[in-house]
Amino acid sequence: MTTQVSIFNGPNLNLLGQRQPEIYGSDSLQDVENSCKSMADSIGLKIDFRQTNYEGKLVDWIQEARGVSAGIIINPAAYSHTSVAILDALNAFEGPVVEVHISNIHKREEFRHHSYVSKRADAVIAGCGVDGYAMGLQHMHRLLK
Ligand code: DQA
Repeated sequence: MTTQVSIFNGPNLNLLGQRQPEIYGSDSLQDVENSCKSMADSIGLKIDFRQTNYEGKLVDWIQEARGVSAGIIINPAAYSHTSVAILDALNAFEGPVVEVHISNIHKREEFRHHSYVSKRADAVIAGCGVDGYAMGLQHMHRLLK
């Protein structure tokens, strides 16, 4: 059976390509999903790619990934900086976690410098644009070997 990796995206990432393109670039979330799919195919992984604007939905999906997905790649977006609930859910997940941010959160406003999710993440990729997702998948592949 092909190993599955969940790729979860938080609030406002549905507007990728339209929202602040000077920060997040011009690719849409569909483009990101397509490039993750090609990367996953080339390294022999299956992906479950999702986006929601709701914190509780992310918590539900992280819980549901237990025993189903081998690893989680997550861009929690603004919830990175606020959500203990997402951190707790990730702490109950047994596999590796890779946190992705399209922008370099450390170069931006002070309130973006702290991420609760980073307390759990095995790796954090920030500032590589949307390429960070495919990089995250490659790293996940290594972690799962
Ligand atoms: C983001 C960075 C967050 O601070 C912001 O709230 C986002 C996107 C990123 O991918 O760079 O929505 O996670």
